[in-house]
Amino acid sequence: MSRIFFLLVAIFSLDSFATVISDENQDLIYNILHYGKTGSLGLGYIFTKLQSEYFSNLFLAIVVAVPLAFFIHYKIIGPKIFSHDKKKLYLFTIFNRTIHAIAAFSFLLIIPTGLVMIFGSFFHGGAFVRICQDIHVIVTPLFLISVIPMFLMWAKDMLFTNDDIKWMKILGGYLSKEKKPIPAGKFNAGQKMWFWVCTLGGILMIITGAFLYFQDVPVGLLATLGLTKIAFLRICIIMHNVLGMMVTALFITHVYMSMFAIKGAVHSIITGYKEEEELEILHSSFYKELKDNKKI
Ligand code: HEM
Repeated sequence: MSRIFFLLVAIFSLDSFATVISDENQDLIYNILHYGKTGSLGLGYIFTKLQSEYFSNLFLAIVVAVPLAFFIHYKIIGPKIFSHDKKKLYLFTIFNRTIHAIAAFSFLLIIPTGLVMIFGSFFHGGAFVRICQDIHVIVTPLFLISVIPMFLMWAKDMLFTNDDIKWMKILGGYLSKEKKPIPAGKFNAGQKMWFWVCTLGGILMIITGAFLYFQDVPVGLLATLGLTKIAFLRICIIMHNVLGMMVTALFITHVYMSMFAIKGAVHSIITGYKEEEELEILHSSFYKELKDNKKI
């Protein structure tokens, strides 16, 4: 009797196991189409090529070439130095500075841990890469809570103006040692580019990253767009990586500008006060506007 019971249990378990497997297979077969087949957007080949060859090499090029270019800039042209003993102007409120500090803290963890994942095979995978992946995910909500207020507090000042075209033509005057007035409002064209990439780009990175992490995608909705789950996740990875490259390159630029290229500039985002001379030279239109409005 007991033998028959165990046999029945065994048959039942095997049957349910087979059902799970076949359901999973159906799910996989439904979502993963063969390369090039209609519905997969033909992304399989491009995606594998990008993932296995291009992305890591491009990231490597960025983390080597961008700091190297700035090192050469520092050695040949050198920093812009403004007097820190003269008048200062209050530019960043405590709210601005707190939001900025949260974003800076989160990026200081998100970027290096993202790079560890990109170069995962160099680090031989394993626990170190997994811990970095966890940090990358855990710290993202900190960026999320800072990026929305940052967008709201600065978006108006970051709209492009004619000054920005002039600024671009002379590359912000950074290729010369001369201290002559540069056309720029409260923020210059370079700072504006950084702002839009780190806010709009950052929000897109959070969204694509969330899809990749939770893998919970609206399969039905995607199907109406002719997309399979795997094609959608591949698009998310490509977008996440391309934006990641832009953010990494501009983040290095931002840190170089505020810590090295303009000596002592970083104090403005810590104390809120900026040197008058720095404003007069590097943000000449804004300085003129303040003078005209008798604000200084
Ligand atoms: C250690 C990292 C960072 C340092 C040292 C730093 C430094 C600074 C400084 C000095 C300013 C004022 C610039 C000026 O008006 O002349 C500034 C502004 C700004 N920062 Fe940062 N920052 C850092 C990280 C970040 C991060 C991670 C983000 C965004 C996620 C960010 C976004 C901005 C934006 C949008 C502005 C206004 C525009 C600009 O100056 O570029 N910063 N930061």
